[in-house]
Amino acid sequence: MKKGFIFDLDGVITDTAKYHYLAWKYLAETIDIEIDIVFNEQLKGISRMDSLERILAHGNKSDAFTLSEKEALAHQKNTHYVELLQQLSPADLLPGVHEFLTEAKQKQIPCGIASASKNAPFILEKLEVADDFQIIVNPDTLKKGKPDPEIFLKAAEMLHITPEEAVAFEDAQAGLDAIKAAGMYAVGVLSGEALHGADILVHRLDELSIETLLAT
Ligand code: BG6
Ligand code: MG
Repeated sequence: MKKGFIFDLDGVITDTAKYHYLAWKYLAETIDIEIDIVFNEQLKGISRMDSLERILAHGNKSDAFTLSEKEALAHQKNTHYVELLQQLSPADLLPGVHEFLTEAKQKQIPCGIASASKNAPFILEKLEVADDFQIIVNPDTLKKGKPDPEIFLKAAEMLHITPEEAVAFEDAQAGLDAIKAAGMYAVGVLSGEALHGADILVHRLDELSIETLLAT
């Protein structure tokens, strides 16, 4: 029997990948690096600084900046990203998410967020779903990012459930690998790229039956 749901945010609850992409692409251009939408797939689920490192490596500029310059670049990207997020509203919830969260609430199934994003609380407020989640893991408290299982294990601990009692949702391969390494049941949410290792794959959350998931 499953007792709780743990969600990635970007790409599962709402589609912010397009805003991350716009902000990174703009930032990369200021340092003469070109990225495209295919390259952007590699950044899904990866922390802000790790994303910057991948972009610098892509442009053969891994050693071109000091740590404080890199922090300034990441900050610049985030300022632009947060500007883009201002337009988010409940209409930006991905299809089926509102219905799924409403039913989970009715059934008193605790829900948590395991996202690498430091902007998660702000995004949940804009989407008007902050109250639907009992816990949000603060990525600043973690030693390792996805695909390490730490963030999902921490979410389960905060929800007072075991990993075996958790169903976790991810749209990125790094996140799915983290869920499986945590020993949890994995729902892969497809948004284009193929995903490997999920226990079940869906395009939208309303393809799932909560009853069936809980009985898994
Ligand atoms: C993840 C996204 O959810 O959060 C990544 O998939 C992003 O693309 C990461 O880099 C960190 O987000 P933020 O908002 O802290 O820069
Ligand atoms: Mg994601």
